[in-house]
Amino acid sequence: MSGTALITGITGQDGAYLAKLLLDKGYQVHGMMRRSSTETLERIADIRDEITIHQGDLLDQLSLVRLLEQIEPTEVYNLAAQSFVPTSWSQPILTAETTGLGVTRVLEAIRQVNPNIKMYQASSSEMFGKVQETPQTEATPFYPRSPYGVAKVYGYWITINYRESYNLFASNGILFNHESPLRGLEFVTRKITDGVARIKLGLQKELLLGNLDAKRDWGFAGDFVNAMWLMLQANEPGDFVVATGEQHSVREFCEIAFSTVGLNLDDHVGIDPRFYRPAEVETLLGNPAKAKTELGWEPQVTFEQLVTMMVEQDLKRVEREIKLGN
Ligand code: NAP
Ligand code: GDD
Repeated sequence: MSGTALITGITGQDGAYLAKLLLDKGYQVHGMMRRSSTETLERIADIRDEITIHQGDLLDQLSLVRLLEQIEPTEVYNLAAQSFVPTSWSQPILTAETTGLGVTRVLEAIRQVNPNIKMYQASSSEMFGKVQETPQTEATPFYPRSPYGVAKVYGYWITINYRESYNLFASNGILFNHESPLRGLEFVTRKITDGVARIKLGLQKELLLGNLDAKRDWGFAGDFVNAMWLMLQANEPGDFVVATGEQHSVREFCEIAFSTVGLNLDDHVGIDPRFYRPAEVETLLGNPAKAKTELGWEPQVTFEQLVTMMVEQDLKRVEREIKLGN
């Protein structure tokens, strides 16, 4: 029997993929979005009529309590966050309030309104930061390297603390980087595929990036949201690494992206130190063995398929924009 789900952060990349997955499974899907003076529903435009959107904010406790009372969800997916690592240095307090304390607000609302609601917390591989072992597992110690990473470590532990203190069904997904054509343009993968499309179609000549040697375990967002759902269907709550188990550098991502359209990265990529970070996470590589064994989860889309998919979608979008004269 399907249930009723509330997704915080429904306007984001993962919110869009998760909403579609839950609709396909027969859920009633509700999404929380913060008030904005401009429209932010672009990613969920195609399912807008099938879901219910409510205003609320992770910074506002009462809005969360009211939403849970009104919607009566069986599952809450807490995806909302200030999620861009560089912004966490320029806005560390906001990041702590949203990405860190926001998790406590959701947990408190659940505890107060209905402690039987199951909760998924969007934890992050960024918590491993300056990695203490490779590959990273659920047992690897954290060493966050940004205010974002620190806030996510807080969110992770407060989720476990509420599970142990109040017996809530609350699980952490420790998700490694996952991307898609819906990824925000400021993240490196989408910045590259958008740049490749614009260069190919003659709108720009150069793409300026930061550290090309950084390595990430990149997967497809559509695969990763399935792991979120599986965690809440398990018999017991827990904490799970979700990753592909394969690592690539930013340079390798560029190589494939440029070669997809018959271009060479050396002719177009420049380095701009503005994109270096005060403290870098040089390498991340996850071991998803627990998710495979206990949840039966495995990624479907390969790294090459992911890069190609993103380049092709950006080519189509930029072509459309050119035709419309944008
Ligand atoms: P995203 O595209 O940046 O989406 C973030 C969402 O949070 C947006 O809907 C945003 O709303 C919302 N939000 C921000 N501040 C809020 C507030 N104060 N109140 C309510 N909503 C607020 O992020 P994503 O890639 O989908 O990631 C989803 C979650 O997974 C995040 O928590 C992220 O930190 C975590 N995560 C992501 C990855 C990854 O590789 N994608 C990996 C590990 C963990 P607006 O549209 O109004 O900005
Ligand atoms: N954004 C960006 N822009 N990153 C660049 C650039 C650039 O021009 N050039 C090189 N990089 C490098 C960054 O220094 C970093 O090492 C790597 O590319 C990935 O950067 P992002 O795509 O911004 O992602 P992230 O790894 O910092 O964070 C993402 O993944 C986390 C999970 O590990 C975000 O989605 C986080 O919210 C998420 O928790």
